[in-house]
Amino acid sequence: MSSVDTTPLGRPDLVIAVDGTSGSGKSSTSRGVATRLGLRYLDTGAMFRAITWWLLREGVDVQDVAAVAAAAGRPEIVSGTDPLAPTITVDGVDVSVEIRGEDVTAAVSPVSAVPEVRARLLELQRAVIGAGGIVVEGRDIGSVVWPQAEVKVYLSADPDARAERRAAELGGTDVASTQESLLARDRIDSGRATAPLTMAEGAVHVDSTHQSLVEVIDTIVALAARASSGAREGS
Ligand code: DC
Repeated sequence: MSSVDTTPLGRPDLVIAVDGTSGSGKSSTSRGVATRLGLRYLDTGAMFRAITWWLLREGVDVQDVAAVAAAAGRPEIVSGTDPLAPTITVDGVDVSVEIRGEDVTAAVSPVSAVPEVRARLLELQRAVIGAGGIVVEGRDIGSVVWPQAEVKVYLSADPDARAERRAAELGGTDVASTQESLLARDRIDSGRATAPLTMAEGAVHVDSTHQSLVEVIDTIVALAARASSGAREGS
């Protein structure tokens, strides 16, 4: 990415956490905010998808919690953080395209409910966030991964809007079955014992149902501006 070393907000260490349900627009929004502010970008969902892709390729039964837990430490997962061209590799192989496949999408929620998987990825996520200067999207960023984030957003959208957007992204997939699959993932992601999807303490709820992408990005950029000017005044 570019050699920007201070953000336009004068807060090179800023961390913006964007959590929310599947299909609420987290990725486009987070990438847009990061690009606008000259920040890095981390898609933690891609990390869960990458480990799931690897488990499927290795022939591990993804419903077998003990087998998934035992294998969780084996693959090397590396996330590229350029918001204009995010990458993810598993043992050196770029799997950015493969992790969006239906087989991975169907298996990723049970895999991400396994505590050993979460512990492994939590360590990697915190290492990438490091000194900050990043927009991080996921389900538990503001609650567990980086509760000290200067800006925390909980992004939501009505199920109909989410299904329509996701089906369009996937190129004309059936909206009803897309909605069913989104809601099934929501149920597992919100109901699991370890780090469930929840609105973090201090998070601002942004409902994107009736807002354009640019409007949602503007809202988060404004929150970031407020957080960084508050921090400067307080320092
Ligand atoms: O954002 P996504 O749809 O690509 O995420 C894929 C799955 O990964 C999602 O169903 C739940 C899981 N996930 C998670 O448990 N915690 C995160 N921080 C990010 C994603």
